Amino acid sequence: MSHDTTAPRAPTGTHDVLPPESSRWEHFLARFAALAERYGFGLVHTPIFEDSRVFRRGIGEHSEVVGKEMYEFTDRGGRQLALRPEGTASVVRAFVQHRPVTPWRAWYATPSFRYERPQAGRYRQHHQVGVEALGSDDPDVDVEIIVLAQRFFESLGLKNFSLAVNSMGDAQCRPAYVDTLREYLRGQARVLCDEHAQRFELNPLRVLDCKTSACRDATQNAPKLLTALCESCTAHHERVVAGLTAAGVTFQTNDRLVRGLDYYTKTTFEFSSHALDGAQNALGGGGRYDGLVESLGGPPTPGIGFGIGIERVLLACDAEQVFAIAPMPPVAFVVDVTGGEGARDLVAALREKGLYVERAYDGRSMKSQLKAADKSGAACALLIGSEELAQKSVTIRALREQREQVTVTIESLLAGVDATGEISW
Ligand code: HAM
Repeated sequence: MSHDTTAPRAPTGTHDVLPPESSRWEHFLARFAALAERYGFGLVHTPIFEDSRVFRRGIGEHSEVVGKEMYEFTDRGGRQLALRPEGTASVVRAFVQHRPVTPWRAWYATPSFRYERPQAGRYRQHHQVGVEALGSDDPDVDVEIIVLAQRFFESLGLKNFSLAVNSMGDAQCRPAYVDTLREYLRGQARVLCDEHAQRFELNPLRVLDCKTSACRDATQNAPKLLTALCESCTAHHERVVAGLTAAGVTFQTNDRLVRGLDYYTKTTFEFSSHALDGAQNALGGGGRYDGLVESLGGPPTPGIGFGIGIERVLLACDAEQVFAIAPMPPVAFVVDVTGGEGARDLVAALREKGLYVERAYDGRSMKSQLKAADKSGAACALLIGSEELAQKSVTIRALREQREQVTVTIESLLAGVDATGEISW
């Protein structure tokens, strides 16, 4: 039997996030957390896999995400499970299970799994931050949620993006519209793209969102969802439009914005970057899902939220040259040529006082340690030679400026850190 010695690589469509890029992720998450908490959202963690029914029922059997892209498996106990393709259905499942007091606001950061064709900005494991607000159908909540996403993008420094808003109607008005649309599409069936020529009967709305020129042309004169809304959906939509205008948020109404998940009702929205390639330019999107809690076995409870793609947003930041995070260098680098015990104890003492310090290992030469110190970006080197070791002192040498080096006792160095929070000399 041959022995496989090739080094395994990360699966197709997945990627590792290593320093210094990961430091950007940390800042990204901290910034999102701070903003979400200001809007009253609390962090929620749910399992990365769920009973498949959570997504089948929640997102919809006929959606691409469930029908074509879901990672499903049977575990060793025979349970039918799926890796989560998005965050909303899981949060709503947790809401139904625990019945927290409403209104309930949850934010999350999560990997999401979709068996898609990988390309720049499209992965099989991508990551999202998102929010879900359950328990109110007030259109002012829709506005708050959209404004939160808008402010987050702005806080990263992004400028070259736009917001599209639509209403999907509700159980009152949508079924009649879907019938009218289906009827219309029957007349166009010959000219639809291959996929939708096959599937439009099942989910005619999806054709509106199709990017092919065949479907775009065929739906040019299709009946419009916004003009088919019932009175209460129209009033809801108008209040959302007024609220966004009052908040000074620029947006376009786009009645083709139906989105790829079947749970949406009333408001849907999407942020697109103009700095990214067309097919992968959605930075984030969301909408209202007033029937989702019920479809997962809970009491009638309206909800709305969004998901933001972390990789996509960081790609847009690269393209716009914003949100570059310079990694923090250590404040000091300990260079010890006496065997390393001095470095071991000094580094430990300084770290305990809250400073980021580095040292070299493996008994390297003075020259090699000084080179590492310089490369680290540290402001100063703390040198320990035999004299310093004997006198319990350390010589401080500036690495970034011209300055006379000084020798101080370790005791006074540490007392200085206590007093000022830094290495002062
Ligand atoms: P979604 O539009 O499917 O919505 O995904 C949200 C965002 O995740 C997208 O706008 C995009 O930035 C990113 N994304 C999606 N798929 C990929 C992928 N394969 N690779 C890289 N990034 C991707 C949802 O997932 C809904 N749960 C949003 C929501 C929350 N609606 C209501 N509440």
